[in-house]
Amino acid sequence: KTLKIIEVKSEIGAGTRGASLGVDAIKIAALDFGSRFFKKHKSVEVPNENHLLLESTGSPFAKRISGILTMVERVSDQVSETLSKGEFPVVLAGDHSTAAGTIAGIKAVHPKSKLGVIWIDAHADLHSPYTTPSGNMHGMPLAMALDEDNLEAKVNKLDQETINYWYQLKNVGKIAPKINYQDLVLISARDMERPEEMLLKKHKVKIVTTAELRKRGVERTVIETLQYLEHCDIIYVSFDVDSLDPTASRGTGTPVAQGLTEREAGKLMSGLITNQKVCCFEIVEVNPTLDRENQMAEHAFEILIKATNAFRNE
Ligand code: ARG
Ligand code: MN
Ligand code: MN
Ligand code: MN
Repeated sequence: KTLKIIEVKSEIGAGTRGASLGVDAIKIAALDFGSRFFKKHKSVEVPNENHLLLESTGSPFAKRISGILTMVERVSDQVSETLSKGEFPVVLAGDHSTAAGTIAGIKAVHPKSKLGVIWIDAHADLHSPYTTPSGNMHGMPLAMALDEDNLEAKVNKLDQETINYWYQLKNVGKIAPKINYQDLVLISARDMERPEEMLLKKHKVKIVTTAELRKRGVERTVIETLQYLEHCDIIYVSFDVDSLDPTASRGTGTPVAQGLTEREAGKLMSGLITNQKVCCFEIVEVNPTLDRENQMAEHAFEILIKATNAFRNE
């Protein structure tokens, strides 16, 4: 199978500006390492206009939601087109909100398949506009895919326009929900708010903490994660670089202590990707404007290389 790099220079789902530069920062890291990776692989850029999108409609509880919908739809179209051609999409994106588009694109091509999701992230990204503490939509992609409002934990009162956009986001591709709680594994999740905790508990979502991963070792974690998702037909792996420990780099919008090392993350990603069911993976949230000496992009590139090498060796 040939890899296809899908570049998504989005950033309007994040609270801090700069994540749209993450993709180019990863390319610079590749040059610094003397790698021909970006010459070797086919790539396509999902069009975006950050200046226009930054001014898009929203509310304090769903900032720039109309622009987010535009991007999610574009990512979905590109991912489904790539999969339809028999290529393997490697999505490099700015803010994490576009992962909802990736999931929609996978489901568009495999509507009947049970899709498992491995979410490697300091966060659960399970908020809806009804529960978000920030209004930043990169905290919501899993809720979009799960068709989750979480009204039980409702704290925010929404206007009708926001309700309409949120409905459209959950229904991109006209399949809702696209994934189920039993088909989800969170790895290194460690910064959740109360409404998210309630959902995780209620649906008994599988979480592997950093400490558990370290205790068992990466190899066992890979085996157990894939075993847990054995009933799934296909698997999508989403890697948010804030899963890494801030001592590795602070080049991301929402760093959180107690994260993974670059080595652990590289081993984890390459281990997961050798599995035949994995049909797409994504790396997000590199923000070079918050970094020193492009450290986060370098880590992301190393993880990307390890993962793609494992993919080709299978
Ligand atoms: N839970 C927090 C919020 O909703 C942080 C979300 C961070 N998400 C991310 N993809 N980095 O604001
Ligand atoms: Mn995230
Ligand atoms: Mn995160
Ligand atoms: Mn927090």
